[in-house]
Amino acid sequence: MGCHVTGPKTRVLDGKNVLNKGVQCESCHGAAAAHVSDPKVRTGLVKTPPSATCEECHSSRGPHFKGFWYDAMKGLVHPAP
Ligand code: HEC
Ligand code: HEC
Repeated sequence: MGCHVTGPKTRVLDGKNVLNKGVQCESCHGAAAAHVSDPKVRTGLVKTPPSATCEECHSSRGPHFKGFWYDAMKGLVHPAP
């Protein structure tokens, strides 16, 4: 569960919608709701999430884990913004 949601490791529901479903921006770049509410608040956005962040999920915790290669995989998560 913790590897397939963002933020709290249990479902956050709004009616029937799961609000924290999936690996979202904040899974890698860090939580920043406080910054969205007030741009003067600095939340310490992580510009280049390190391998350790990825390996919180990409590890032998996963039943199908075969290995993780940061340099090969980091360019695949999204196009260069
Ligand atoms: C699975 C992890 C992951 C997710 C999810 C993710 N990113 Fe990233 N993001 C990265 C990595 C890794 C880099 C650095 C890429 C590199 O250096 O090649 C990056 C780089 C960036 C950068 C460039 C930062 C800079 O100035 O150097 C921006 C902007 C960005 N991401 C925005 C987003 C947004 C917006 C989302 C959600 C829509 C998102 N990312 C989701 C991993 C992720
Ligand atoms: C919160 C957990 C989590 C974090 C953090 C995370 N990932 Fe993932 N990642 C996943 C899950 C879950 C999948 C599988 C998604 C699916 O198949 O539906 C995945 C899939 C991927 C894939 C696609 C693999 C494939 O075979 O299609 C790549 C590439 C990847 N992640 C790279 C990264 C990198 C690089 C980072 C760190 C910058 C990262 N991930 C951080 C959970 C995470």
